[in-house]
Amino acid sequence: MEIIKAKDIGFCFGVRRAIKRAENAIAHLPANDLYMLGEIIHNPQVIREFKIKGINIIKEISQVPSNKYLITRAHGIVKREEDYAKRNNIRLIDTICPYVKKLHQIANFLQREGYQIIILGDINHPEIRSLLSYIDHRAYIIQSINDIKCQSFEFSKKIGLLSQTTKDLKELYKIIKIMFNYTDELRVFNTICKATRLRQQATRDLAKIVDLMIVIGGLNSANTQRLVHLSKAVGVETYHIEDEKQLNINYFRNKRKIGITSGTSTPDYVTEKIVKKIRELNHNY
Ligand code: F3S
Repeated sequence: MEIIKAKDIGFCFGVRRAIKRAENAIAHLPANDLYMLGEIIHNPQVIREFKIKGINIIKEISQVPSNKYLITRAHGIVKREEDYAKRNNIRLIDTICPYVKKLHQIANFLQREGYQIIILGDINHPEIRSLLSYIDHRAYIIQSINDIKCQSFEFSKKIGLLSQTTKDLKELYKIIKIMFNYTDELRVFNTICKATRLRQQATRDLAKIVDLMIVIGGLNSANTQRLVHLSKAVGVETYHIEDEKQLNINYFRNKRKIGITSGTSTPDYVTEKIVKKIRELNHNY
């Protein structure tokens, strides 16, 4: 059995940066004074490690006492949380990814210039919730091209089109094409980040030449879910797992080439453990 890893795999720049900032805070401040609102990134192993180091992981900003520190999410916090922190003298350790920040800046620009904003994204994803909160929720969110076809939006003559950083570029192209039927002016910003695009392409390429794909990453990680979707769309048998305990020996029966890829929030050591386990399983049958 041959195991082939995707050309582009694992941590992206934004995730590395966020983790480094959080670790830097742990190195210089008492862990007890540090709070993390939800998940800094969507990966269970990373969150577990921060818990072990003593960081308080909380669900609501009201759980952070005054004069303590709040480590934000790589996907950004919502405006209400930022305002609460200011009012209560909670100091923010900002880990928002610069590409997500750029998405905020473009949306603000479009709003100032009077464009109706349409965003390809998932309404429940923290990145989109954060973005919407800074533009007074004045945007249409679409999950795919079908949302445009099926819903009765009232489109304006000036539209600005953006995307969540982890969406599929091909889906964005399809939407651009159809949007010209609805408006006179369309401004499009490609806000899908490069790390996402590279991992998506590498996954497609690999899925075409293997008998089975294992996609590694948090089950709640949007970019990992997207890799699973792309791999399945190629037509290859695909499994999404978070750790080696979720591997099943039956996945590998009669398979010669195994493809491995992982989301941008998956640490390399998690991938390596899984590769090691697959090798062991291979020896056992
Ligand atoms: Fe940032 Fe792209 Fe990673 S938006 S967090 S570099 S997936």
